[in-house]
This record gives sequence, structure tokens and C-alpha cells, in this order.
Amino acid sequence: MSLLRIKELRTLLHKYNHSYYVLNISLVSDFEFDNLMCELDTLEKKHPEYEDVNSPSKRVGGDITKSFNSVKHQFPMLSLSNSYSKEDIVDFDSRVSKLIDNTFTYLCELKYDGVAISLIYENGQLVRALTRGDGVSGEDVTANVRTITSIPLSLIGNYPEKLEVRGEIIFPRPAFDLLNKERLANGEQLFANPRNTASGSIKLQDSSEVAKRKLDCFLYALFLDNSVTNSAYEHYELLKKWGFKTPFLDKNYVKSVSTIDEVMSFINYWEKSRNDLPFDIDGIVVKVNELSLQKLIGNTAKSPRWAIAFKYKAEQVSTLVKNVFYQVGRTGAITPVADLEPVEISGSVVKRASVHNADQILKLDLRIGDTVFVEKGGEIIPKIIAVDFTKRNKNQLPLDYIKCCPECNAELVRFEGEAQHYCINSNDCPPQIKGKISHFVGRKQMNIDGVGEETIDLLFNAGLIANVADLYNLKKEDILPLERMAEKSAENIVNGVEASKVVPFHKLLFALGIRYVGETVAKKLANHFENIQSLRIADFDTLVNVDEIGDKIAESIIDYFKSPINNELIDQLIGFGLNFEKAKIKDELSTDLLKDKKIVVSGKFNIVSRDEIKRLIELNGGKNISSVSSSTDMIICGENMGPSKLNKAKKLEIKLVVEEEFLDMIKVNQHSVEENPPIQGEIQF
Ligand code: IVH
Repeated sequence: MSLLRIKELRTLLHKYNHSYYVLNISLVSDFEFDNLMCELDTLEKKHPEYEDVNSPSKRVGGDITKSFNSVKHQFPMLSLSNSYSKEDIVDFDSRVSKLIDNTFTYLCELKYDGVAISLIYENGQLVRALTRGDGVSGEDVTANVRTITSIPLSLIGNYPEKLEVRGEIIFPRPAFDLLNKERLANGEQLFANPRNTASGSIKLQDSSEVAKRKLDCFLYALFLDNSVTNSAYEHYELLKKWGFKTPFLDKNYVKSVSTIDEVMSFINYWEKSRNDLPFDIDGIVVKVNELSLQKLIGNTAKSPRWAIAFKYKAEQVSTLVKNVFYQVGRTGAITPVADLEPVEISGSVVKRASVHNADQILKLDLRIGDTVFVEKGGEIIPKIIAVDFTKRNKNQLPLDYIKCCPECNAELVRFEGEAQHYCINSNDCPPQIKGKISHFVGRKQMNIDGVGEETIDLLFNAGLIANVADLYNLKKEDILPLERMAEKSAENIVNGVEASKVVPFHKLLFALGIRYVGETVAKKLANHFENIQSLRIADFDTLVNVDEIGDKIAESIIDYFKSPINNELIDQLIGFGLNFEKAKIKDELSTDLLKDKKIVVSGKFNIVSRDEIKRLIELNGGKNISSVSSSTDMIICGENMGPSKLNKAKKLEIKLVVEEEFLDMIKVNQHSVEENPPIQGEIQF
């Protein structure tokens, strides 16, 4: 009965997904969809014996891939030869025409600017997804690809038993802009462009993070055992019938043409219209359409002879530099920015361009009043390529790089080996103070709702906060009088701040904004030191002995804890009850959910310590076992789990459970984490 319902739900949800993400038609309300998904989720949890890696419930991700296996491609993944001029296209046409006696057609397509992917289906099920790699072997990124909603996990219609399809994973512009907007609000570094971000996303270890990225995929090549058609164009029609998202045939994304003039019109059309597309393209692909002729013409070692890419040049315009001003970042890094006479480029109006650093100003010999060439590739911030010296006037003097911070007037320093100047007056320089607070409240750090950049500005300007500890003193009555502050927003801030007190130690460590201590380093430190006191007193040798901590990070941590201001801040935060040590779970939460289960614990953990995991296993009726065997029920795996254990586990098909899953399993949530008693006693420095 349950299996029947599970199957029914999977078919239904696959159908709704396909309709929504591939055909753009919504068949059910979000509410109904969520209810069905919830029902499926509950049944699947109750019946792990009916597990299906391609269940629609897998779309949200959750699998962790520590290292991506290299797998050989069935056919090499070639690249395309590039051309930048219309003459190259004419040459290509005459080369092809010489090789072919009969009439033939060309297929003109968009060249999607993303990352190539090969998808393998057996009996209508997605079994593998590989990156291009070196063209011969690619990396197995199946778990991550399963989260891309427009890629079917289960095919429909009359599909062949085996097929391979290739395409491009892209980051649609609107989703990319939204992601960067969120990152800006969280004080995180912005991603440079959709292509690199798509490529980075597909290699993330945590597939639930990939699911959040809203990637998309267009397909452009199909390999079948027995081809049923001689036309690449018809391949698209077949793929569409089987449930794939092909380039929209109706939107002129693909066009079958018979003459080189028509190829040129396609190129010209998209050169003008490409800025209206909701994703980036970097050119046009021209292919011989007939599959038998493609075979006849063949490939070189690197690329097919039957296809060519026409790449659009990054658009360049010239404009005037009205001024150069200097921005101060969260870390005190100074970035010179050119204030430009507004100019339209690639469909958007550009008013500013980053000049990176003092060396770049010298290299370009940039002066105020110059006319410059500006280029916008895929990047968000346009680049100044060169100065138009023919327009330079004698009165324009070389730029004098600033010596003092434009915000707080402190003298700037330039560290050895670094290109940027820094303001090191970090505790008294307003953009640095605000930047630190904004980093602290970020989603991946303390995740304090309701405190965005604007609110931080308001609170700072009103003198209510001058450092992150001040957040914990905020009262609703202090916030309410601020401009445009409603009762509800004020309440949200106070509640958000309060809720952050239980945020795990590694996130708090990341939130402090110690130079070079990013998310990953913070996890390593939290794993090793387990509480702030032992980290505070760690000397250089102790620090560099920690996994992945090098000289630069160690020095930065020591510097941080040398400062009396930083120590005072930490003492204040300890006083407010923030979680400065790894969590301990309350004993009264014991269950028999793991009764008689034989469990191996391996690797390092982030939220609780390894010993705590072991204690929790016993508390919930399980048994701790040291080595993996066929009688092992599950392995709780942390970071850097030993490869021999992992291989053995895979061979014996033993269930692997990550830390969060385990805590979920025994129903531990943030609220059951004991509030750590404030750490007593002063540390002497
Ligand atoms: S056909 C040689 N068609 O461009 C393999 N490729 O620079 C046949 N690409 O590796 C590729 N859009 O990742 C083809 N419409 C399209 C494409 C396309 C983007 C990518 C693809 C390929 C790269 C070559």
C-alpha cells in the first residue's frame, strides 16, 4: 500500500516539476505541491527500503560529496574552435562546402555561457552527471545535478533504454542578481559573474547549498545507440518529448538555415538582442545539421570540424573620468573607484569602474579628466581597459594616491606583498565598524533577522551601536524612535539578537571577522580548540599545528587576541551568554531511537564534539563500535573521514549520516542545546 502511494506521489511530483520548470506551466498551487512533497517525505522516511535516488524529494539536496570521483566519458567531450570575425565564418563555410557534395543545412544556436555537463540515463533514470574535466574524464557531480529542477530525474514518453545528453548549466541572471543582493546584505563578498558562479556551484560539497542556487540547464547534444533521425534539430524535438529543457525552438534560440547569409543574420540579430536574454551567452554556435554529414566531416583531436563558435567581443565604450574617489571596505582595504560620465554599455548604464589599487592607476597612467575605454565582460563591475591619450590635455596631472583614510583620516599602510592600501584604524573607522557589524549579523554567521545594512546605518548614526556587543544591549524602546521603524521591526531586531545567542561556536567564530578566518577556517579552529579560552591563549606553534592553519592565519589570530579592545569585546559577548564553546546536549533528551544500533563515528565535527556524538549515541540506546564491518548499522561521518573506512562503508552499503542529519535523527534542535554557562575567570595577557 505504502509503496504504491510512494510511486504515485513520485510520478505526480515529477510531472508537476516538469510542467513548472520545463514548460513554465503551473498545474497545482504551491500549497498543494508542498503537501504532496511532505506526504512523500514522511513515507520515504518511514520506509527507507523504498529509497530512490531520483525521487522528487531529492531536489532539495542533502548529500555531501567530499571528493568528486573521476569517471571516463563514453565519448570525449570536445570543445569548439572559436572565431571572432565574420570572415572566419565564411572560411568555415567554404571548408565545409568543399567536403560535402550534397545540399546541407546549418543549425544556428546560442552559445550559453556556463559550464558543460554530460547526463547519462538508463531506463529513463538519471544515473550519472559528469563535468567536462579534461575532456577525457570528468568529475561525478550527480548528487548536485539532481537538485537542478529543469533536469529531469525520470524521463517521460517513449525514451530509448540508454542515452547521453550534453548541455550547459547556467546561472540565470535574475537568480544570480538576487544571490548577490543577499550576499551584499550579509556583508559577504560578491560573486564576479554567473559563469564562474555556476561552475563553482556545481562543485560545492553540500548539495542542499546547490539546490538554493537556482541553476538552470540548456541541452545541445544527444547521443543515442541507434539514431532515429538524421537531423540535430529533430534531436531537440525528441529531447523535449522526453521531458528535457531544450533551447526554446519558438524563441529563435535555435534556427535551421540553408545559407551563410542566414547564418550572418542570426549572428547579427543576437549581437543586438543578447542583452534582453535572462541569461548570458558569449557567442553563437554554427553546426552542420545533418548527423550523417557530421560523421563524414569528423573531428580533430580537440574539436569537431562540423561546428564553429562565433564569439561576441566584450562591448567597449569610451567615456570621461570625472573624479576618482576611494572606498573603504570592511577589512579596511582601500579601493580606488573612477566616477564616470554615465554611459550605456551592454544594456546597462555604467557610472563607476573599479581601478583596483595604486599599481593599476600607475599602470594605466590614469588621471582625472581622462577619456577612457571601458569594457563590460560577464563581470558586474566594469573595467577600465586603457586611457585614450589622444584626448589628454596638458593640464591633467598624475594622480596623488591618498595617504590617509578618507573616512577617519588615519594614515594608510601597505603590507609587504599586498597590492592594496589599508586603513588599520579598524575600531574607529565608521565603514569598518559598520562592515564588521554587517558581517556579524550575516546569514551564515549569527543569522540575525531584521538587521540589514540600512538598519545598521540607522542604529550606528543614532549612536546606539558602535560594536557588535552593543547589539545585545538594544531595547525595543531605544529602537522605536528611529526613522521609519515600526513596532514589528523593532521587535524583530530584539528577538533576532536574542535568538543568536544559541548560534554554534564555529559560526560565532566566523562572525567575529578575524582577518583570514572565513567559514572553513572557523570550523577547523572550533573543532580543534572547542572553546574560546583555549583559542585565546594558543601560541603560534599550537596554531600552525592545526589542520589547514598556516603562518598568515596564525599571525592574524594572535594579532586579534593581542588587542585589549578585542578581548574586552569577547568578554562582553561572553557576559551576554553567547555560545563560545562546542555544544552539549541536555541529558533529559534521551530516547531509544538508536536502540541496539551499532554505530561507527569517524571524522571531525562542527556543531558538537566527537566525544559528544559518542555520548549521544549511548544516551539514545546505540552502541559505539570502532571498526566498520557488515554488522555496522550506520556511520556518523564528519570532515576528513578516513578513505579506507569510506570505501569499506560504500562496499558494504552502510548508511552514512552527516552531523546535522544525526542530530535531526535524535531530534536535537538548537533549543535543546544547553546554554553554555558564561566562562568565568579573566585570562592574563
Ligand atoms: S555544441 C564540441 N552547442 O561551448 C562539442 N556547445 O567552447 C559540441 N556550449 O564545451 C558542443 N552552448 O560547453 C554546443 N549551443 C551549444 C553550446 C555549446 C555552449 C559550450 C559547450 C562547449 C563549449 C565549447
